[in-house]
Amino acid sequence: MPATITSIAHFLPPDVFPNSYFEKYLETSHEWIMTRSGIAERRFATTGATSDMIVPAALECIEKRGISKDEIDCVIVATVTPDHMFPCTAAVVQSKLNITKAWGFDISAACSGFLFALQTAASLVDSGVCKKLLLCGSDKMSSIMNMNDRAQAILFGDGAGVCLLEKSNNPEMGVLDSLLRIDGAGGQYLHQVAGGSFKPASHETVDAKEHYIFQDGQNVFKAAVKGMADISSEIMQKNHLAPEDIRWLVPHQANLRIISATADRMGLSMDKVMINIEKYGNTTAGTIPICLSEWLNKGEIQKGDRLVLSSFGAGYTWGAVLLRWDMND
Ligand code: UT7
Repeated sequence: MPATITSIAHFLPPDVFPNSYFEKYLETSHEWIMTRSGIAERRFATTGATSDMIVPAALECIEKRGISKDEIDCVIVATVTPDHMFPCTAAVVQSKLNITKAWGFDISAACSGFLFALQTAASLVDSGVCKKLLLCGSDKMSSIMNMNDRAQAILFGDGAGVCLLEKSNNPEMGVLDSLLRIDGAGGQYLHQVAGGSFKPASHETVDAKEHYIFQDGQNVFKAAVKGMADISSEIMQKNHLAPEDIRWLVPHQANLRIISATADRMGLSMDKVMINIEKYGNTTAGTIPICLSEWLNKGEIQKGDRLVLSSFGAGYTWGAVLLRWDMND
């Protein structure tokens, strides 16, 4: 049986930073930000680390499913802003939640982190290696953003989405297919220059602001429009799906224009697209599970709905996952 999401929850930091916040000290405007990206405001975690956003979402997710924490046998965290380079954030989350019988690890695939982790988690559950897997997508992007660079300060936000993966009771439900890709030639356009073994932290790297995000926005934009649209229509063709077969496109929330181009290529009207970028900006590994959790809370995902999840991010990494909503209820 395929793996399926049996519970989901999200956490967003309470502190809201509208575009007017940046207008006060950067040469930018609400109109520019809205037109170019579709973002009106975002949340920044003014205290705590990535794990501190995951923990409340995880507690809610576990409680909703009504299971004991000790039934969880694996914790996977998708993030590029781990609490530490090591140990993995999955270990920090395991410890903070006091989950006693699990293994786990982190996955680093930037904005595609949740999809790469979902496919990994689904394979572990599908094969019987894991039975109840806690899958977390979260980033504290404010920890690596240059708030004085108008080209990046306005784009990102912080947040977490957490779901539980278990085997479906129905062979036609759950995670049904995925197409995932990686191309390191794109690394030069979106990366963190220093802090890894390639360029360890030093006074010079700090002075040169090399621990912040580096992004060549235009190059990433062009690659993202093509990458996300192509792979999303490819997964439809591969599974013989017409636009009317799909209830929701769940796109990574990096830029409203990239999302529109993807929906357009898939032949989907925008009322079939989950969009919350206006409120939260780009929370990297958090965007897709936050969308799923919000839409489920609104009662707008029904059992049997076909969803295409799609993403593009640093690496480059990109992909699409087809899932049929189940929840095993
Ligand atoms: O999720 C990970 C993947 N990341 C993405 O998918 C992001 C992809 N890229 C983008 O979303 C867009 O490239 C941005 C939203 C980052 C920028 O939009 P753009 O239409 O590509 O603008 P641009 O970079 O070509 O900049 C146009 C102009 C420049 O000025 P000049 O050189 O034409 O004088 C920028 O300096 O806009 C300027 N600019 C700004 N102006 C006002 C850049 N940022 C701002 C700003 N406010 N915040």
